[in-house]
Amino acid sequence: MYGASDPAAAERTAFRRAEKQYKLYKPPNLKGASRPASMETAATCRLWWTSTRCLPPTGSCPPGSVGVTAPGSTAPCSASWTGFYFIPGALSTEEQCYWIRESLKTFPQPPNRTNLTAIYGSISDLFTAAKNQKILVEVENSDVEEKEQNKGDRKTESKNFKFVEDSEIQKGEECRTTRAITLMRKLRWSTLGLQFDWSKRNYDVSLPHKKIPDALASLAKNMAIPAMPFGEEFKPEAAIVNYYGPSDMLGGHVDDMEADWTKPIVSISLGCKCIFLLGGKTRDEVPTAMFLRSGDIVLMAGEARECFHGVPRIFTESNQQEISALVSQLSGEDDCFILHYVKNSRININIRQVY
Ligand code: OGA
Ligand code: MN
Repeated sequence: MYGASDPAAAERTAFRRAEKQYKLYKPPNLKGASRPASMETAATCRLWWTSTRCLPPTGSCPPGSVGVTAPGSTAPCSASWTGFYFIPGALSTEEQCYWIRESLKTFPQPPNRTNLTAIYGSISDLFTAAKNQKILVEVENSDVEEKEQNKGDRKTESKNFKFVEDSEIQKGEECRTTRAITLMRKLRWSTLGLQFDWSKRNYDVSLPHKKIPDALASLAKNMAIPAMPFGEEFKPEAAIVNYYGPSDMLGGHVDDMEADWTKPIVSISLGCKCIFLLGGKTRDEVPTAMFLRSGDIVLMAGEARECFHGVPRIFTESNQQEISALVSQLSGEDDCFILHYVKNSRININIRQVY
């Protein structure tokens, strides 16, 4: 449920009020469009933190995993806490670096779709192009027909763009150009496994896709154990990778497009710290705010699977991002580009069983 059917009503809800409270307010500009900067500190001070609750004694839970309860309570205070698991520091720094690299280099590669696919068609090797300061240019389209035959009526897929060096662009020539690095910054999501169609808000099994990479599937299976119905194994079939820049947020929603809600969503946080809001089954319930940091994993199963949640704020300020371990790890020359990206971003990989 991304967005609300009645936006005006949504504006008045407790969830929306919390989003406004926690979101990043830019300093007022000369046109006077902004709110007082003091709201920002008021918001961050009111963050609740979580205490621990015992997990089912499966003996196979990932080390360090904790279920959570509301602050000051020994039992879940509302439905949303049943089936919500927080696994702090689930990934080592090395693992975080690995998944950050994959998220930037591999996951946006066709046939996986990204938010850029609708505009530019399939783009290969965006990361390398950005690193090498290439420019994307629209070129004469000689093989439109062939591409259209291959991909049905998806007209945008047949657009023809390629990466070139700055020096290759003819002076005075009129063509649409975009720097690869700008595109990299505009990357908002990519989809792995079964492809999610955002316009129809469902999984489009007719779209070409590769299965979820084995290493990600086995990580998700292991992490999902505490939230799985007894004796069942999680089947990772799709994943959405979200890329957040400094002022990006993810509005309150429920992920309701998967057939079986008894299966958890496994959600991995990488890069800058964020505020995560977990609300109730309606937007009228006041959500609880918590920090998610790089390497943390959250599971949403059972009741929590039906609850509104979102990310109103990420912290890119150097004293708040909490990525020092990542920064020391990403010190190789080749990592310079990734390091710069990570200092300004948060990446979330959420893995789902669709059927
Ligand atoms: C989502 C989602 C949460 C996050 O993509 O559905 O809820 O932590 N992401 O970014
Ligand atoms: Mn979600």
